[in-house]
Amino acid sequence: MTRASVVGAGMTAFGVHESTLSELFATAALDAYDDAGVGPADIDAFYFGNAMGGQTENDTHLAPKLATEVGIAGVPAQRFEDACATSASAFKNAVQAVDAGIHDTVLVGGVERCTPETGNGTGEMTRIFASASHRQYEQPTGLTFPGVFALMTKRHMHVYGTTEEQLAHVAVKNHRNGTYNPRAHFGREATVEEVLDSPIVADPFRLMDCCPFSDGAAAVIVTSDDLADSYDAPVDVTGVGQATDLVPLGLKSTLYATQAARDASAKAYEQAGITANDVDFAEVHDCFTGAEVLASEAIGFFEDGEGGPAAAAGRSALDGDRPINPSGGLKAKGHPIGATGTAQIVELTEQLRGDVGERQIDDATCGLAHNLGGDAGTTVISVMEVRG
Ligand code: COA
Repeated sequence: MTRASVVGAGMTAFGVHESTLSELFATAALDAYDDAGVGPADIDAFYFGNAMGGQTENDTHLAPKLATEVGIAGVPAQRFEDACATSASAFKNAVQAVDAGIHDTVLVGGVERCTPETGNGTGEMTRIFASASHRQYEQPTGLTFPGVFALMTKRHMHVYGTTEEQLAHVAVKNHRNGTYNPRAHFGREATVEEVLDSPIVADPFRLMDCCPFSDGAAAVIVTSDDLADSYDAPVDVTGVGQATDLVPLGLKSTLYATQAARDASAKAYEQAGITANDVDFAEVHDCFTGAEVLASEAIGFFEDGEGGPAAAAGRSALDGDRPINPSGGLKAKGHPIGATGTAQIVELTEQLRGDVGERQIDDATCGLAHNLGGDAGTTVISVMEVRG
């Protein structure tokens, strides 16, 4: 059953930008308006994500500020914050509101600036990101996000025998996909040797296992099933699921199962009336290479413990049987955190329209987006399908 449809998509390139949050977001939103063929008068609500603008550049209460910037002041506008899952949460809530008949046509999007353009270098930005970890139990230990995902991945390696070389294949694959994406932060190839020779950040992750700090914005226009046929290229949202897991890390039943992703996937698959076998490709939250391995198992693309070998065997490559992150993912496309969830929806929309050139997944009719926040404490899963 169609819950809502995406009828317009836009985003900036991800990377280093001198532009302000307002300029970046307006660029993506106007791009989405143009793509849908709508104007501000057609929009009746604004669901927006920004995770850390208050901490990084003293800029909060952004929903009405950006609504003003893109010509929709007056409509209900709300900011969401769910760490790295921020704008997927905005998208899920917009889809549910449209599905419930509360709104007809909604602007959804996110923006973030994470590079030194904000005045914050790697150390300060790492500290700010760590505010998404547990205030009493994790932050005092000095645990930051490379460390969080390193602990989860180390445990997966211990239990299943996943290797650093298998992780490196994830980075190599996503860097290759990034070369086909003109909006990617890194449009260059990498080799397994280069990944394995790069400096250690948090064992087992090396610099080349990590996503970068990026600036960028993404936006989509979501409309009701009834209105979708009046647009050129609607893509249907058939399932959305969100779930939470125990925080801090020490309370989780296993460090590597990413239970919220399993629960959110089950909800999204049930709503869409499909299984993982019906999904042609996925955009998953590969903030670190190990996170992609864990996600690929949690969404049911591979059996538990098979994510690493599958990556090394090329099964998740563009021409594999289970393509993952055709956009280049967070690793190569970049990770401006509040924009990442919506950017995944942009990629699903453009893939399902057959509009992405060299990174096109042949005959794709169904795609899935997996966006997590914090130490996998929040996960949002969205399933989108070509309109039947
Ligand atoms: N992948 C590939 N190359 C990267 C990179 C990455 N993640 N990060 C930086 N680089 C490149 C830079 O382009 C630069 O290349 P150049 O010398 O050719 O110009 C070089 O590596 C050094 O860049 P710099 O910015 O000085 O690196 P850094 O050591 O300050 O930061 C990381 C590198 C990996 C520590 C940082 O990107 C990081 O912490 N990433 C994770 C972000 C994060 O935790 N996000 C939240 C996830 S939940």
